[in-house]
Amino acid sequence: MSRYFENELIEQIKDANDIVSVVSEHVALKKKGKNYWGCCPFHNEKTPSFSVAPDKGFYYCFGCHASGNAIKFLMELEGITFVEALERLANRANIPLPEAKLSPQVKAREERRKKLYEACELAASFFHNCLVKTSIGKPGLDYLKQRGLTTETIEKFKLGFAPDAWDRLYKSFTERGIEESILLELNLIRKNDKGQVYDFFRNRIMFPIMDGKGRVVAFGGRVMDDSTPKYLNSPESQIFEKGKLLFAFDKAYKTIREKKQAILVEGYMDVISAHNVGLTNVVASLGTAYTRDHGHVLMRQAEEIILAYDMDGAGRQAATRAIELLQNTDFKVRVLAMPDGKDPDDYIRNHGPVAFERLVTDAVKPLDYLLSESLIKHDTNIPEGKQAVLEEVFPFIGNIQNQTVRDDALKALALPLWLDNSTIYRYFRNYTKRGNIEIVNEAVPTVNTTANGDEDMLVALAINDSQVLEEVVKYLPLEDFQNISYRGIIEKIYTLFTDTGNIQGESIAEVLTPEEYEVYTRLMMFEVNEAVPVLIRKIRLHSLREQYKAHSIMADQLKRAGDSAFISELHKCQEIQSLIREWSK
Ligand code: GTP
Ligand code: MN
Repeated sequence: MSRYFENELIEQIKDANDIVSVVSEHVALKKKGKNYWGCCPFHNEKTPSFSVAPDKGFYYCFGCHASGNAIKFLMELEGITFVEALERLANRANIPLPEAKLSPQVKAREERRKKLYEACELAASFFHNCLVKTSIGKPGLDYLKQRGLTTETIEKFKLGFAPDAWDRLYKSFTERGIEESILLELNLIRKNDKGQVYDFFRNRIMFPIMDGKGRVVAFGGRVMDDSTPKYLNSPESQIFEKGKLLFAFDKAYKTIREKKQAILVEGYMDVISAHNVGLTNVVASLGTAYTRDHGHVLMRQAEEIILAYDMDGAGRQAATRAIELLQNTDFKVRVLAMPDGKDPDDYIRNHGPVAFERLVTDAVKPLDYLLSESLIKHDTNIPEGKQAVLEEVFPFIGNIQNQTVRDDALKALALPLWLDNSTIYRYFRNYTKRGNIEIVNEAVPTVNTTANGDEDMLVALAINDSQVLEEVVKYLPLEDFQNISYRGIIEKIYTLFTDTGNIQGESIAEVLTPEEYEVYTRLMMFEVNEAVPVLIRKIRLHSLREQYKAHSIMADQLKRAGDSAFISELHKCQEIQSLIREWSK
């Protein structure tokens, strides 16, 4: 969006709006030191952890990690778009926004989007009225009641019914003057070879799909018997990106935020069935698997994600894939097993919400889930079976970036497989040598070591001063940062610097991922009075010592396992040792 306005203008508008005064219109702030503090408007709290740095133009919440500049503050607080927030701030500072800057194409596209939203909203009402207000909808209503849904739930999800007729929607919509091209783009109608137009959804239960703001953007339509296809879904459109949307997120986010936990299921009916009995932190990814973008949607709302997928082949596969994508993210992940019943909807209807909540409590960690799945499949009394189990869990373990956690995971295999640790390490070593996975050594145990404090300080200095940034890049390999986001931040801001000569401004938000941007703004809150060379040396030495430890542990393990690869590990140890000597001078 920012592309329609010159970055310069955006900067000018930001400069003209002191962030403290913008935030103060919504949050009571108190000055403490250089920064201002108040209770965070983005999560519930009683003691202030929301800070605003006037000189840098950023806010950051130490509680929920909400962060950004004045524009983002308004966007998030009021649920408005970038352009709307910018307009608001421009007005506030009496800066005229150039109308003409919105190119005719952009304007036309905005107009069209508006029409698409309106048509979707209207279609949802059309289907809903058919279901609850007409006799046409009776089979649909009977079906939903028989599946246990209350009137309240039907209203809340605005469920509907598509009449068993060829062109009811088409006729009624064209009478209202809605363009055919809009209906075609939304796939609400279709055209056959002969040019005849017909409704796409017929004789189906209709599930409107809302975006995060509760706007209808698409539909799923289910048959009421066993015919196929069971579901028809709207294709993606200008206003509907499947991979970025979670079904019912608009209804679930409040509870997700309160419980700090989101339950992820597969089907529309699983979600609705859960909400129907008061389990309101349940959402589904739509027909597609979980994606990283779904993670962005959930970020800052949830600390924990519970995967409650169907207990069939497809569901198990989807769970494994989701586990992979959620690995090494900030989310805690657990996997829920349904002892009987095909899916959450089944289980909830048979056993009720309390029993389902018990399953949530009992949900297990990803490795335990993968291991138990694998142990069931293979006969571990024979070597081939043990090998097969190892092959199945190694990809997961190999991806664990924290070495301590990875070691624990490997050790956890010993007992169920009746193997000793050194044998497991040997297999693991072989596995990685075949090139199937690349081990990333991130030998840092906790966030509170001094090295991390040093890293915070150095990166905070580097993002404010291009000279420091250049020094950092010159002397520190990126891997020396134990904090992985710092690697991305330094690398990307340095690239920005070499490309544009700038290290600040609106472009930062474009080059960093949302996670990195959050870290970036947190660092902006730091006040640092430490010498750069000292910090560089401390971080370099810390990293070298950690590497030394990692290699000597590996050498030790290999030696005990009788693997000659231990010699090359020892060589590495020697190399690192001489580097340590040099840097200690
Ligand atoms: P019920 O059978 O009514 O309980 O529906 P469900 O929501 O549990 O569906 P199911 O577990 O079979 O499938 C999970 C999700 O996959 C559905 O909610 C749909 O989003 C999607 N899906 C299922 N069947 C189809 C299909 O035939 N076509 C398409 N495009 N998507 C489907
Ligand atoms: Mn189902």
